[in-house]
Amino acid sequence: MRTKLMAANWKMNKTPDETRVFFREFLPLVAGHDRDEIVVCPPYTDVDAAIAGARGSKVAIGVQNVHWKADGAYTGEISAPMLVSLGVTHVIVGHSERRQYFGETDDTVNLRLKAALEAGLTPICCVGEVLEEREAGLCDDVLRRQCVRAFHAISAKKAAKLVVAYEPVWAIGTGKTATPEMAAEAHAVIRREAAEVFGEEFAAKLRILYGGSVKPDNAAVLMVQEEIDGALVGGASLDAKSFAGIVKY
Ligand code: 13P
Repeated sequence: MRTKLMAANWKMNKTPDETRVFFREFLPLVAGHDRDEIVVCPPYTDVDAAIAGARGSKVAIGVQNVHWKADGAYTGEISAPMLVSLGVTHVIVGHSERRQYFGETDDTVNLRLKAALEAGLTPICCVGEVLEEREAGLCDDVLRRQCVRAFHAISAKKAAKLVVAYEPVWAIGTGKTATPEMAAEAHAVIRREAAEVFGEEFAAKLRILYGGSVKPDNAAVLMVQEEIDGALVGGASLDAKSFAGIVKY
């Protein structure tokens, strides 16, 4: 009943020229694929090329971060209204690489989520434990804390477009994936937390994506899990054939 969202996170990869090449190859491969929603999140510098490249298709364009203020003296930042004006519809918020390398906190994730939702963007809010936390049996606690703080002071009505991505940090770029059972279990924790905050009806509709070394050859076993509502794909989304293979698992 939940339409899957298949999302590409290109991270800091590709030039505008490479973006144009990707879409020329990718669109024919997913033409007529109506089962799932598809979104590609390139770096800001490729957004123009991506929007032009995806024109006439159902592929949506997102980005990988957004600032919480609409404008002002915030050197180097990009605001939600700026993104909307370009035709961007989705934004990744709180990716573990932002948390690890750029000082992202649960509180700034919350501010970004609010700004994205306010502007009408679909935020893909990333949560996930590091290996030490999993090994210490803290996975559920970490997910609950990240969700509660991310969702703080947001109403169910405002949160309607929210998407969550479960990305175990130890599975990102490592070739290790969570087993479908591990992912399903984590997704269930996230869904329960969403039910606490936003209510059961909201939680039943909430899409929770899995991310972490998703490849064409492991996409199917993950995507058939009832709890998994799509994928957030890093490395394997850079190649058109490989991402199309995942989309069409
Ligand atoms: P990989 O697919 O490269 O493991 O990256 C996952 C990810 O971080 C997507 O946001």
